[in-house]
Amino acid sequence: MGSVFAKRMEALGTETAFEVLARAKALEKQGKDVVHLEIGEPDFDTPKNIKQAATRAMRSGYTHYVPSAGIPEFRQVISEYISKTRKLEVSPDEVVVTPGGKPIMFFSMLALVNPGEEVLYPNPGFPTYESLINFVGAKPVPLPLKEENEFSLDPEYVKKMITKKTKMIILNSPENPTGGVITHEQLKVIADCIADRDDIFVLSDEIYSRIIYEGKHESITQFKGIKDKTILLDGFSKTYAMTGWRLGYGVMRKDLALKTAQLMTNSNSCTCAFTQIAGIEALTGPQTEPERMLAEFKKRRKVIVSGLNNIEGITCKKPHGAFYVFPNITGTGMDCRKLGDHLLYNAGVAVLPGTSFGKHGEGYLRLSFANSVQNIEKALERIEKTVKKD
Ligand SMILES: Cc1ncc(COP(=O)(O)O)c(C=O)c1O
Repeated sequence: MGSVFAKRMEALGTETAFEVLARAKALEKQGKDVVHLEIGEPDFDTPKNIKQAATRAMRSGYTHYVPSAGIPEFRQVISEYISKTRKLEVSPDEVVVTPGGKPIMFFSMLALVNPGEEVLYPNPGFPTYESLINFVGAKPVPLPLKEENEFSLDPEYVKKMITKKTKMIILNSPENPTGGVITHEQLKVIADCIADRDDIFVLSDEIYSRIIYEGKHESITQFKGIKDKTILLDGFSKTYAMTGWRLGYGVMRKDLALKTAQLMTNSNSCTCAFTQIAGIEALTGPQTEPERMLAEFKKRRKVIVSGLNNIEGITCKKPHGAFYVFPNITGTGMDCRKLGDHLLYNAGVAVLPGTSFGKHGEGYLRLSFANSVQNIEKALERIEKTVKKD
């Protein structure tokens, strides 16, 4: 008998982080102590002023449906924030609010990409990209990110891989899982080579735009003529430690914003109303908490990078953004999946194999440093002992 599931489900991938988390939790249930460096979320609490704004909103009646594209005042605030931070003219009707940034990936592909068209995407990269490309029946074209290039994109390679069938290019800077950042010059090369292709769109995932350690965040939207071919994805999960609130948005040209809102109507109806009011407070209120979190991440980055570089068989580049390190583990003699399992079961440290982020992730692990210095040090000690024994 054939499967009861629709054929399209065969193409859908997943995120290993949630699987490793489940395995780590099962070990904890058996009484084992596990340091969690697998999941990609800030360990800080959501700032108090944001929580208070949500409570006030709930009390004052923001408990009903709101427009599918988002509450008008919130879309206004987002358009002002993006105009200011990306030095762009953005109007509120170019903003669509969604439950987290992730749905923007899904909706962009559903609205723009036909079966058989090609989508270029970073590899290693956020696993949902490849999963969704396959899901809509398009052809995934990986853009390898190499350690020798500081895990940044090679714009000449992007140029080479663009064909008549290319429909979308996914960019992610700062990048998950490598912490790589795409520079102004690299973005300019990509912008120039798609300038006269009105049929190509860029999905620019800028969810880590505020978690950057050197220099400033650069967006491809700054280049002439690119804004109208770009869907800029950003949100609140990482910057404001709001992963559980489910709040994000896309900025795109008006006709595409209408289609995206229509997809929202058909799927979620709208994003949670009081969460959106809290989002207004996040963007317009004091920014001391995200600044404090960034300073703390910077300290942890130093601890984890130098700690990993002191372990035989492991070398680790300093990430320029986000809160992940992507150490090279080839010197241990183990492949990344084997080492990941070994560390979970024998050292009590949960990490992700690089291949969770695509085939170009072999030879690497991803460790999140969204955990306390104390826990990071504990994990480093355990990794060192376990790797040494072999
Ligand atoms: C690169 C990247 N984009 C988007 C997201 C999704 O974030 P959200 O929680 O806003 O859906 C994540 C979360 O891990 C991410 O790493």
